Amino acid sequence: MPTPPRNCTFPVTDWAVLAACWHPVALSAGVTADAPFAARLLDQDLVLYRTPAGLTVAADLCAHRGSPLSLGCMRDGAIACAYHGYRYDGAGRCTLVPAHPRAPIPGKLALKVFPAVERFGLIWVSLDPAAKAENLPAFPEHADPAFQIVHLPPFDWAASAGRQVESFCDVAHFTFVHPTTFAASDPAVPRYEVEATPNGVRADFASRIGNVSDPAAAQQTWRRVYQLHLPFTAHLSIDFPAGGRLVVFNAACPVSARRTRVFAVAARNFDRDQPVADLIAFQQKVYAEDQRIVERQNPEDLPIDLSEEVHVKADRTSVEYRRQLGRLGLGRDFTA
Ligand code: FES
Ligand SMILES: [Fe+2]
Repeated sequence: MPTPPRNCTFPVTDWAVLAACWHPVALSAGVTADAPFAARLLDQDLVLYRTPAGLTVAADLCAHRGSPLSLGCMRDGAIACAYHGYRYDGAGRCTLVPAHPRAPIPGKLALKVFPAVERFGLIWVSLDPAAKAENLPAFPEHADPAFQIVHLPPFDWAASAGRQVESFCDVAHFTFVHPTTFAASDPAVPRYEVEATPNGVRADFASRIGNVSDPAAAQQTWRRVYQLHLPFTAHLSIDFPAGGRLVVFNAACPVSARRTRVFAVAARNFDRDQPVADLIAFQQKVYAEDQRIVERQNPEDLPIDLSEEVHVKADRTSVEYRRQLGRLGLGRDFTA
């Protein structure tokens, strides 16, 4: 059983539930063989590094005197601590104690290594040694050559992951929050279908939502399908009237209870010759519009108890999402 780190900001039962899940912690391209990389997941500080044996994700703590290994460097295919130069291999075993290079190395000189998988250009980590990789979310377009894949620079929000993901799947806020990007002039939300899936929630939403700079497109029906994968990933596919499809894969990392790093990956099967910078800039604008609201929501934690906030028909996705997070085991502790 994983144990919560010092200064854990989550209720203990929430932490234990989330520790058993997979979460994205870094872009694959951001972790090279040249230098260690620091990340944080569920208040656990992590060091990520690459050796000839592959990717390693470990607690960012040298077993000798507790220095963060992310301050160190890579030497001869091992990570070297910045304090006394101890080296650790890809399995987290100490391979060199420079002060006594020929003495036997105590077995206790080892890093706490966590399960890690690279998928969709992201590094996913579970704090549970028994985690199974088949429980990762699906993103079929990522492997489809018809789609261009664009990784956005990660977003850091001062908000809980649950609030962030819920806002990503909210269909009643476009008019009010996204006036400069893709708002609809009519805020009314038509009836839409929501269903529970083995891993979360699926919502199928058709409406007249278009880029306000293109009034013709705004008059046609756009179909958005949200597929939520518990706890904090959402796959949104938008089918445009002209036949193109844009996917935004929103994978939120619960850095701490009220800090979230969002990894967003876009996939499109149209405009592949257009500059990627435009797509990134547009998505950054959309995310900034949401961030302004979500960082100010109260309580900061997503209320799992449905009686705590008021729900209307337009909130069906959110209601099902909260129900399922509750079934997963979140929200069992009192949270301030
Ligand atoms: S603290 Fe890392 S080598 Fe001493
Ligand atoms: Fe939004």
